[in-house]
Amino acid sequence: MTILVTGGAGFIGSNFVLDWLALGGEPVVNLDKLTYAGNLQNLASLEGNPKHVFVHGDMGDAALVTRLLAQHRPRAVVNFAAESHVDRSILGPGAFIQTNIVGTFQLLEAVRAYWGALDASAQAAFRFLHVSTDEVYGSLSKTDPAFTETNRYEPNSPYSASKAASDHLVRAYHHTYGLPVLTTNCSNNYGPYHFPEKLIPLMIVNAQAGKALPVYGDGQQVRDWLYVKDHCSAIRRVLDAGRVGEVYNVGGWNEKPNLEIVHTVCRLLDELKPRADAKPYKDQITYVTDRPGHDRRYAIDARKIEQELGWKPAETFESGIRKTVKWYLDNPDWVTNVQSGAYRDWLAQQYGGAQVSGTAAMARSS
Ligand code: NAD
Ligand code: DAU
Repeated sequence: MTILVTGGAGFIGSNFVLDWLALGGEPVVNLDKLTYAGNLQNLASLEGNPKHVFVHGDMGDAALVTRLLAQHRPRAVVNFAAESHVDRSILGPGAFIQTNIVGTFQLLEAVRAYWGALDASAQAAFRFLHVSTDEVYGSLSKTDPAFTETNRYEPNSPYSASKAASDHLVRAYHHTYGLPVLTTNCSNNYGPYHFPEKLIPLMIVNAQAGKALPVYGDGQQVRDWLYVKDHCSAIRRVLDAGRVGEVYNVGGWNEKPNLEIVHTVCRLLDELKPRADAKPYKDQITYVTDRPGHDRRYAIDARKIEQELGWKPAETFESGIRKTVKWYLDNPDWVTNVQSGAYRDWLAQQYGGAQVSGTAAMARSS
């Protein structure tokens, strides 16, 4: 048996693939377009591993997906692929519409055709797991209860609107065609391989470079943080035991204002890698113009996944953020390659023309 993962060279997808294979999961076919957010270096430890088959391509390329499904006969598809950065969606929403809506639609179409031709027992066992976000529910006031799975969809950014549309398509393919889908709506992730344009890695990287730590508006916006490996364990659990057609909210019960997050990162850096002048990193905090339409607060009520499936996060915020800061300090080459753009040449540098297996073999097959 095999699973097909889309977007498995991104932040969460690569953590998922690494953990999946480390835990003895079935072979993974990893389809990724390698946008600026896709980084094959995240998967370097899988080089030569025949259980990892990397395919450089677009989930919106129905012919490619159809060919991959026919060739590998996966028992499940886990859809991570997306444009994921809210600020980029404000600057240029087009790519978000194309990937998150049209791409998901094309993927669903190819999967529907494949699934429809399976025998009855394979059809019953098949799963399409769509990885989505808490942002589809909109913004909470200070006193609102946390988002449950029945909250109304009120997306406020082009990113969240495009994810909301993809969630609706996934839902419709279950209700109309019977495709066995599962959807997870997760809160903010953090951890290894997080692209340093998002809050936590940006702060870690900028602090060390002596740059400003840009806090939007008053810094009192609240996010609910989950260590990425806990998100991956939730996805595995939902894939394994989730009820078909259901939605599961995933969160860490870790609501924190942005300013507190930035202060925590600064404190950890003060401890683990003090500034040469011995001054605190928090001196680098700079308040900048707020994000347009900035959602004030997200919070996930994760009782359903806990009560139905017995899933709970393993990390506290304190343990997870310490691991994360240490990971960035221990992996300066990864950071340097991302900052210089060298990670984008990884495919060519590492694999160009060579006759190799595993990750690389499939990179060439695209
Ligand atoms: P990311 O931006 O780090 O990675 C996205 C990956 O998808 C990249 O490897 C990129 O190359 C790939 N990709 C983009 N378009 C593609 C296409 N058309 N075909 C194939 N691959 C394509 O994103 P992430 O933070 O890892 O998020 C993964 C998923 O989880 C997204 O669907 C996102 O909406 C969701 N999510 C993210 C968070 C978070 O905090 N990061 C929280 C909840 C949900
Ligand atoms: O809630 C889940 C979502 O979390 C995911 O669906 C998205 O893919 C993911 O990017 C993330 O979205 P956010 O917009 O919450 O994440 P970001 O890291 O961009 O910002 C977190 C908060 O920090 C947000 O309130 C904006 C603020 N911020 C961000 C940056 C990059 C700053 O104050 N300064 C910054 O420089």
